[in-house]
Amino acid sequence: MDLADIPQIPVRMRRLRKSAVVRDLVQECQVTANDLIMPIFVKEGLAEPERIESMPSIFRYSPAAAVNECRVLFDLGIKAVALFPCTASELKDPQGSEALNPDGLIPKLVREIKQEVPELVVICDVALDPYTSHGHDGLLSESGTDVENDPTVSVLAQMSVVLGQAGCDWVAPSDMMDGRVGAIREALDGASLTSVAILAYSAKFNSAYYGPFRDAIGSKKAGGKAYLDKGTYQMNPANAKEAIRDALLDEDEGADLLMVKPAGAYLDILSRLRQSSDLPLVAYQVSGEFSQIHAASQLGWLEYGRTRDESLLAIKRAGADLIISYFAKEIANQNR
Ligand code: PBG
Repeated sequence: MDLADIPQIPVRMRRLRKSAVVRDLVQECQVTANDLIMPIFVKEGLAEPERIESMPSIFRYSPAAAVNECRVLFDLGIKAVALFPCTASELKDPQGSEALNPDGLIPKLVREIKQEVPELVVICDVALDPYTSHGHDGLLSESGTDVENDPTVSVLAQMSVVLGQAGCDWVAPSDMMDGRVGAIREALDGASLTSVAILAYSAKFNSAYYGPFRDAIGSKKAGGKAYLDKGTYQMNPANAKEAIRDALLDEDEGADLLMVKPAGAYLDILSRLRQSSDLPLVAYQVSGEFSQIHAASQLGWLEYGRTRDESLLAIKRAGADLIISYFAKEIANQNR
């Protein structure tokens, strides 16, 4: 077509893409330290922070170093952390009994953080996988082939009370048992822990993206199997309608915030849940999402910073209010 024959173009979208400044003015969403929650791995008996091979730049910290890290994060503008224990193998058993120890690694650490950085919101995972010798999130049936729902719920409710009594602000059940949000709410209220909020891992998928996390906390081995299948409790990655049903059940049972996990491969779930619920939505950009960006960047196949920023923006755009991300600290650092 000749230039002269091009019809008049009444709407020109490029007008608002003209310069970086104009683009900034019309940007629809952004990711700041206010939106980000930093996960922290803790392990007893470390003289120095320990690198996690499959998660570049992420460390396991001793409790004392973790408290320091919390101070640093809060000063950078990060308002919440999610704590994950790397439990010594001699403390693990099939029942995950260490999860109920009020003087265990996490309850002790929560008390220390609350003393040193009282305003920082401390989030604790509620699930048995860091404590069980088999690596599953709950108690196994007698045959050892499946996780039993109701007995697990009862332990998780007790675990939530232990964490609440230690001073944890939000308990985050990540186990995917049925009915656990209601049971946890009742147990917390029964122990006068009415101000402890529940962040429900509502739509948690049976995902391959958790691999590096299982390295980090050492929950990988299940009878020597390379891959621990949690398919009878975590959701089928093919299902969206089921995710919305499950999340709305959690809302009914008294969840204060809902979570979708992983994030990047499940943006449709986030976006649908945004339409179905007015609770604050949290997305967990999980270990595998983080590590794949690092790996491809190390190979020179992706531009690190731009890929990282785009991955977070997409999650925000899809409807997340908050994002748990291993990138949280460096984003806060960079935006200072
Ligand atoms: C377990 C739990 C998992 C993660 C958070 N809590 C892994 C799992 O279900 O095995 C994964 C987080 C990540 O991959 O970053 N209750």
